[in-house]
Amino acid sequence: MDKKLEKLINEQITKEYYSSYLYLSMAAYFESMGLTGFTAWMKIQAEEEMIHMRMFFTYVNERGGRVILESIDKPPADFESIKDVFEQTLEHEKLVTASINNLYKVSKDINDNASTIFLQWFITEQVEEEKNAKDIIDRLALIKEDPMGILMIDKELGSRPQPVAPAAA
Ligand SMILES: [Fe+2]
Ligand SMILES: [Fe+2]
Repeated sequence: MDKKLEKLINEQITKEYYSSYLYLSMAAYFESMGLTGFTAWMKIQAEEEMIHMRMFFTYVNERGGRVILESIDKPPADFESIKDVFEQTLEHEKLVTASINNLYKVSKDINDNASTIFLQWFITEQVEEEKNAKDIIDRLALIKEDPMGILMIDKELGSRPQPVAPAAA
C-alpha cells in the first residue's frame, strides 16, 4: 500500500491505543469514586477503542503493509469532575475525528478506493462517538451536581451493552 497512508494508519493505531488507555484511566477515576455505572461505561469505551485499533492493524496487514507499534503516552490520572471527564472525552474524540478525516482525504487524493471504503466505517463511528459524549455532557448539565441525578445517570450508563466488533476486527 501507499507508504504515506501506511505511515498515517500506523499512527492511527497508536492513537486508538492511546484512546483506550485514556478511557481506562477515566474508568479507574470513576471506580475510585464508587460510580459503578460510569466505570462500566468507560471500560466498554476502552474496549471499543481496542476494536478500532485491531481493525486498523488487520487492514495494514491485509494490504501488505507493515504494522510498526509506537509507545503510548501516559494518560491523565486525575480529573476535576465527572463533567470534566466527558468534556475531555468529547475534545479527544474531536481530535480523532480530525485524524480520521485526514486519512480519508489522503486515501481519496491517492485514489486508494479500498482505503476510502474502509475508512467510511470510521467516519460514521466518529459521529456516534462525539454524540455519545455530548449526550452525557447535556444530561450532566441538566442535573447539575445533584447526587440523586448522578446516581440515576450512573445506573443508566451501567446498562451499556458490550461492543460488537465488525467482522474486520
Ligand atoms: Fe476509536
Ligand atoms: Fe473513540
